[in-house]
Amino acid sequence: MTDDVLAVHGGTPLNGRVRVRGAKNLVSKAMVASVLGDSPSKLYDVPNIRDVEVVTGLLELHGVRVSKGETEGELIFDPSNVESASTDEINVHAGSSRIPILFCGPLLHRLGHAFIPDLGGCHIGPRPIDFHIQALRQFGAVVDKAPEGMHLTAPNGLHGTKFELPYPSVGATEQVLLTAVLAEGVTELRNAAVEPEIMDLICILQKMGAIITVHTDRVIEIQGVKRLGGYSHRPIPDRIEAASWAAAALATRGDITVLGAQQADMGTFLNVFRSIGGQFEVTDTLPPNETRPGREGGIRFWHPGIELTAVALETDVHPGFATDWQQPLVVALTQARGISIVHETVYEQRLGYTESLNTMGATIQTYRDCLGGTPCRFGRRNFHHSAVIAGPSKLHAADLVIPDLRAGFSHLIAALAAEGTSRVYGVDLIKRGYENFETKLSDLGANVERV
Ligand code: EPZ
Repeated sequence: MTDDVLAVHGGTPLNGRVRVRGAKNLVSKAMVASVLGDSPSKLYDVPNIRDVEVVTGLLELHGVRVSKGETEGELIFDPSNVESASTDEINVHAGSSRIPILFCGPLLHRLGHAFIPDLGGCHIGPRPIDFHIQALRQFGAVVDKAPEGMHLTAPNGLHGTKFELPYPSVGATEQVLLTAVLAEGVTELRNAAVEPEIMDLICILQKMGAIITVHTDRVIEIQGVKRLGGYSHRPIPDRIEAASWAAAALATRGDITVLGAQQADMGTFLNVFRSIGGQFEVTDTLPPNETRPGREGGIRFWHPGIELTAVALETDVHPGFATDWQQPLVVALTQARGISIVHETVYEQRLGYTESLNTMGATIQTYRDCLGGTPCRFGRRNFHHSAVIAGPSKLHAADLVIPDLRAGFSHLIAALAAEGTSRVYGVDLIKRGYENFETKLSDLGANVERV
């Protein structure tokens, strides 16, 4: 008996409303950015998720005072006394998240040295950090890899540089931004990622006093400044969570309104959702009786009541179809008539979860070939990174083990769409990125219980 198992009694459409808060993949970076300021920062609408706990722990270890603000989800970060933490203390967080790598620049600026533990995060491929290290070295950092983690110093300070990313990595772009803002001189980053969360991080840094220009063709220019202050910021809503609930509505033949979901950040997803046959309606004001604070409006997603249509899609960097939208949507694609094709071009090993869906009755085959229109980096490298999904398939209950965050949510959706009772093991992993997901599921009429 373990309390990390959820019994899911499937076969019931999910209907109702859920609310998404600040984007996980912005909030954690915004928290790190607070270290760069010489006065307190305030972040609103922070979700109660494991990644926030991990970053809070790391900030506190480095002397940043983290306190709750007046409103629900408001956090205040006071970096007045940033200090060194011991390797042992930091290593408590080893393997728990990928965010620690982003502390490099801020800690080098504030303390002249940094220690970064072994990273964690989802197991969806090798996830190297070579771009981060190359960029940091170009800024002037000395990086020493040791068995316990990575030690960094900047004996001659950090200086602006020209750097071209081999691939528009989200994390490496953030690394460069968080390092360049206080580096001496100008930094030019080519082939940068331009995800909405990165644009929001740029807004935060600008509020703090940074000078950052986003040019055309993925070029970002940062003029280093001498000091930064704190910020006060309401993050963009979580477009990945919003899409996960949209996929849940489609897969379970339900009707879910995602309060807070923002059309502008989800355009590509909405196009695919509509191509499958999913219906949606964007509302710009709060529904009646909805008085909770936060962004107004949201998007209602529902199943059309007729058969869904197969599609071909390719994941890509923004403004393409986000890789984090892929797994939940594939569950809905098992219910579409015809052959759907998914070409995963961001991560080489993000389709392993489809085996579990097959044990539930889905018909999904993975291929090493690039089955999308564009050959990708993983083409001839022996990675099963394309999937062919034949549908519609009647899903039945199964015992499932959650492999990573987004695949975990897709397992949940599959169990909810399936007839019978599934046992989903390792559900606590979902808390890394989905706030109160069990309460939300219950609010939507799902029949789930801890066993
Ligand atoms: C961020 O990860 C997100 N995580 C991921 O979300 C998201 O899937 C990903 O961006 C892509 O959008 C956070 O923001 C915390 P990358 P990140 O660097 O920054 C390769 C979720 O479920 N690469 O853009 O780690 C890498 O292997 C998570 O919320 C290198 O080769 O992703 C991958 O193939 C999962 N060398 C590609 O770039 C490097 O040094 C994109 O990775 C860095 C990356």
